[in-house]
Amino acid sequence: MSEDFDVKLVEDVKSYTPDPRYKKNSWLGDYRTAYDEFLKDQDAFWSKMAHELEWIQPWDKVKELDYPYAKWFTNAKLNITANCLDRHVSGDRRNKAALIWRGENGAEKIYTYQQLLSCVMRFANVLKKVGVKKGDRVCIYMPLVPEQVIAMLACARIGAVHSVVFGGFGAAALNMRIQDAEAKVVITADVSIRRGKVIQLKSIVEEAIINSSSVEHVIVLRRQSPQVELRPNLELDFYEMMRSVPADCPAEVMDAEDTLFTLYTSGSTGKPKGIVHTCGGYMVGTYYTSKYVFDIKDSDIFWCTADPGWITGHSYIVYGPLAVGATVFMSELTPDFPDAGSYWSLIEEQKVTIFYTAPTAIRMFMKMGETWPDKYDLSSLRIIGSVGEPLNPEAFEWYYQVIGKKKCPILDTWWQTETGMHMITTMLGEPMRPGFAGLPIPGIEADVVDKDGNSVKPGTGGFLVVKSPWPSMLRTVYGDDERYRKYWYTIDGVYTVGDLAVKGKDGYIMILGRSDDIIIVAGHNIGTAEVESALVSHHAVAESAVIGKPDFVKGNSIKAFVILRVGHEPSDKLRQDLMYHVRMTIGPIAVPQEIEFVDKLPKTRSGKIMRRVLKAKEMGIDPGDISTLDE
Ligand code: PRX
Repeated sequence: MSEDFDVKLVEDVKSYTPDPRYKKNSWLGDYRTAYDEFLKDQDAFWSKMAHELEWIQPWDKVKELDYPYAKWFTNAKLNITANCLDRHVSGDRRNKAALIWRGENGAEKIYTYQQLLSCVMRFANVLKKVGVKKGDRVCIYMPLVPEQVIAMLACARIGAVHSVVFGGFGAAALNMRIQDAEAKVVITADVSIRRGKVIQLKSIVEEAIINSSSVEHVIVLRRQSPQVELRPNLELDFYEMMRSVPADCPAEVMDAEDTLFTLYTSGSTGKPKGIVHTCGGYMVGTYYTSKYVFDIKDSDIFWCTADPGWITGHSYIVYGPLAVGATVFMSELTPDFPDAGSYWSLIEEQKVTIFYTAPTAIRMFMKMGETWPDKYDLSSLRIIGSVGEPLNPEAFEWYYQVIGKKKCPILDTWWQTETGMHMITTMLGEPMRPGFAGLPIPGIEADVVDKDGNSVKPGTGGFLVVKSPWPSMLRTVYGDDERYRKYWYTIDGVYTVGDLAVKGKDGYIMILGRSDDIIIVAGHNIGTAEVESALVSHHAVAESAVIGKPDFVKGNSIKAFVILRVGHEPSDKLRQDLMYHVRMTIGPIAVPQEIEFVDKLPKTRSGKIMRRVLKAKEMGIDPGDISTLDE
């Protein structure tokens, strides 16, 4: 973790207060009142939330603490799909649209809650038929299609643990995740379609499962015609299998603390962390925030532009919105394809009311100009949200004025794969301050502290921490509990997030960025060590160091410094080869924008690369204390 630092905070930033009707008509009501109710009796607060959902058996205790571990809703029994599906099907939402999907060339699919439940039950029976049992791990590597959601919910239906790998990852990254989870089945598609380009997903899976002895079957969604060939016995067709199984599949009885899923996120070593989330607490956390932060009502059409392969998609395309019975819109279209109006045309077409996207997309839209959104009717929007990295004041202003037409509140939600749900934001109706995410939501105690854990004064930078456990917190890191403990022992007594932040006079929190070796590129976490080890796995590379550089659209871009092995000379061709190698190993999101060939890297006497020095040199700033530098 880096050392303390000074931050000069501009306190005279603007503040916007939404129309009072937002607060008056919201599920939450007044933020302060709700927060005080939480502080008065934390367990009673969460118990009340949990009681809005259906449980097969109630809990003995709301939480049981055993630092750094916590259990939530102990001994309660549930199934999250019974809450996301059956609960609505047995009530008035039976024929309500649960999922509306749009693909390229006008492709559309709509599932009512009843239809979604039927598909989930059938696919759950497919998983059973191929031998998947409660607790088995299933890897899902799919495009942004409804079948991805069906596959996730089908796992949850039978108590199998899903590990979704974003469809943009390369073969080596997928292989590592399959092996780490010892996945029994991989669910994929023949292709994914991005910007009119067809990406052969199944071929990537074929490469990734060489040496993965745990994999018994690959289930393939065949989207193209003529259909791709399937390898006998190993590969099975998604829909043919669904036709061969019974329609009914009762929901497995799960303990609140049984694992629901693992999801890999970058850490400060080359190996990503398999973040473990459990059934009960995650369900309550995502339900609560979907209802009380996003304020989803039955009449809303909710669009989160993430891929279900990231935590944002898990929590706010799949589990949270479906738990509240929302109509979820999802689309495989990218913001700039077929043209820069694609998102705005979809908002107009679907009459989207709540729109949730990432700052990198907002900044890209800014660059493309207002004429694109101005061509479309965005008046259906009532709330707009942001997630993934700091929403800088300029991007806030643009989003507020051009997309929100100065009427939609912006929810800049800070949270992580590890937290499972929103943690800090400006709740609906509260004054919004560009640049500041806001305050901890009711249910969360967060603060900005120095390295000894003392709360810092307003205007002073520090480490963002969460001071007490919350229901949807990660329970461990799959197969590596030591990495879990590190979150709680970096600063004793609190969960250290890994972000730097600063508080304003009114307590509002501004997130400044990561304090560790993670670079957020276009909203995606990339570990410097992951990129470095991908580079070093190339035969020409002896050593490498990777840093993040500020980038207007992506937030950060990756720059790599590379020392070549003897016998290899720097060249543009080699630079291109290395970029291609990283693309194939991790995926396009991790490709360095720049590669510089160097003879030496700054290191400490103990041999640790000082990326901080490289970064300071790159940006022409003072590197700070370099007393530990070797030369
Ligand atoms: O640095 C913070 C940044 O994204 C990190 C978490 O990344 P990930 O686990 O991939 O989850 C992203 C989606 C929840 C955080 O540690 N981050 C996320 N949201 C914000 C943010 N930084 C500033 N403002 C946000 N709203």
